[in-house]
Amino acid sequence: MRLKLAALSALLVVIFTAVNAEDPYRFFTWNVTYGDIYPLGVRQQGILINGQFPGPDIHSVTNDNLIINVFNSLPEPFLLSWNGILQRRNSWQDGVYGTTCPIPPGRNFTYTLQVKDQIGSFFYFPSLAFQKAAGGYGAIRVLSRPRIPVPFDDPAGDYTILIGDFYKSNHTSLKAILDRGKKLKFPDGILINGRGPNGITGSGPSGISFPVEQGKTYRFRISNVGLQNSLNFRIQNHKLKLVEVEGTHSVQTSYSWLDVHVGQSYSVLVTADQPSQDFYIVVSSRTNLTASGPRPNPQGSYHYGLINTTRTIKLVSGAGQVNGKQRYAVNSVSFVPTDTPLKLADFFKLGGFRLGSISDRPTGGGIYQDTSVMAADFRAYIEIIFENQENIVQSWHLDGYSFFVVGMDGGIWSADSRNQYNLRDAIARCTTQVYPNSWTAIYVALDNVGMWNLRTEFWARQYLGQQFYLRVYSPVESIRDEFPIPRNARLCGKAAGRHTRPVKP
Ligand SMILES: *[C@@H]1O[C@H](CO)[C@@H](O)[C@H](O)[C@H]1NC(C)=O
Ligand SMILES: *[C@@H]1O[C@H](CO)[C@@H](O)[C@H](O)[C@H]1NC(C)=O
Ligand SMILES: *[C@@H]1O[C@H](CO)[C@@H](O)[C@H](O)[C@H]1NC(C)=O
Ligand SMILES: *[C@@H]1O[C@H](CO)[C@@H](O)[C@H](O)[C@H]1NC(C)=O
Ligand SMILES: *[C@@H]1O[C@H](CO)[C@@H](O)[C@H](O)[C@H]1NC(C)=O
Repeated sequence: MRLKLAALSALLVVIFTAVNAEDPYRFFTWNVTYGDIYPLGVRQQGILINGQFPGPDIHSVTNDNLIINVFNSLPEPFLLSWNGILQRRNSWQDGVYGTTCPIPPGRNFTYTLQVKDQIGSFFYFPSLAFQKAAGGYGAIRVLSRPRIPVPFDDPAGDYTILIGDFYKSNHTSLKAILDRGKKLKFPDGILINGRGPNGITGSGPSGISFPVEQGKTYRFRISNVGLQNSLNFRIQNHKLKLVEVEGTHSVQTSYSWLDVHVGQSYSVLVTADQPSQDFYIVVSSRTNLTASGPRPNPQGSYHYGLINTTRTIKLVSGAGQVNGKQRYAVNSVSFVPTDTPLKLADFFKLGGFRLGSISDRPTGGGIYQDTSVMAADFRAYIEIIFENQENIVQSWHLDGYSFFVVGMDGGIWSADSRNQYNLRDAIARCTTQVYPNSWTAIYVALDNVGMWNLRTEFWARQYLGQQFYLRVYSPVESIRDEFPIPRNARLCGKAAGRHTRPVKP
């Protein structure tokens, strides 16, 4: 196994030096279809990619260009987004409703992504409607370039583990419940790599085994691709050595188990040092998490704590009814999409949204609906406080960025809470949990111009409005700061009939 990996890295050196004038390209052609899956023992229409559920892994190396031509063979619009891929200067390719037009049925769209200056473990998923409940997701791994030191030896194997809760109902039925303004019931089970618990339906733990060789060390890349539940991950009788958190090599600490909140990714190393033949991996939901649970793991990082923040944004998540229907909000605003992706509406100056339609502070008022977009300055260094006054675990994700999780605690945040921030060695990541009746504070350097989705990863809440867009803007409008609109960009809504590269007068 080790030999094989050595051969692989030698090969990568050759490829890299052969094209060192430009970063390497990797091409993918994907066909998205419906197909029968039976993860919880009943037949369901799953979303398959090239016939697979979960979809194929993307293997890449830092700075690779990924050219992914996605053919939508579903009878409905489809779009993929790339959780944790920074899309530097390139929110056009982010693949969420606010940045990119859906791929119509029977058509295709070629994404051009670069995994610029990134390493780590991430995933892709269908971002429209409630399609995420039908699969269509898969893992993304970005390996370090050859000769770039990695703080651990090559493992004997490198495995993807996609965990997540799942329903027996299909995504259109679930969406219909949400569209009627009702809440969803608790998910029906937990899947590991698309498989449910053997012979068990319902809430029991799911099990899956991986053959390993005695004494060898393996890497597991774990992502929670589910819809709402925090999941507890453990491997019976083995320690998990945490080595990577969403693109950052962490201080290597060993744990007996790891809580993976929805939307989060981790890599752990596991040494098969116990007499058993197989690793028995157990994933279960936990409902009693509190802020006194595991803290973000410290790691060495640049001096983010010495820079003064220039703006504080406090975001309080809320739930309530609007016109008798369930909605979810941030600072009282429940997001409603417009017919035109915000990025395109902004570029072609088509209106349809208002900067400042969500406030920097909780308003305390009742929930109302709007197409919420917050304005932010390129190169600002901001503090965001997520406050969760409900009895659920929240999980917040920011597209286009990696941020420092500087603090979390129970109760209400106040300016004094800053005294307990970790300004020395906090972890940088793209998805953070907020425990029940608690807050989490992050620092973000706004170094990526674009229209970026800030959302809960609790998918029903996201669908019913708990999200908004952060428009990071530079008045210079230079292609140094943001790529031009892609020539192949689909144009929909009010942007239909426009041209991606308008002819200058
Ligand atoms: C996608 O798969 C479907 C079903 O197998 C097939 O009919 C269709 O031709 C495929 N499309 C592409 C572009 O490969
Ligand atoms: C979902 O289930 C409903 C009701 O059983 C059915 O009418 C619909 O066609 C299904 N949709 C998909 C995409 O499987
Ligand atoms: C659709 O796929 C074809 C190749 O089959 C490609 O030439 C074309 O650019 C793709 N369309 C888009 C919008 O990316
Ligand atoms: C909370 O979770 C821990 C760890 O799984 C468990 O030991 C404990 O019994 C749980 N407490 C309650 C009140 O459920
Ligand atoms: C940050 O602010 C403090 C207090 O206002 C000031 O003393 C310090 O010089 C500032 N640091 C930087 C890097 O600007």
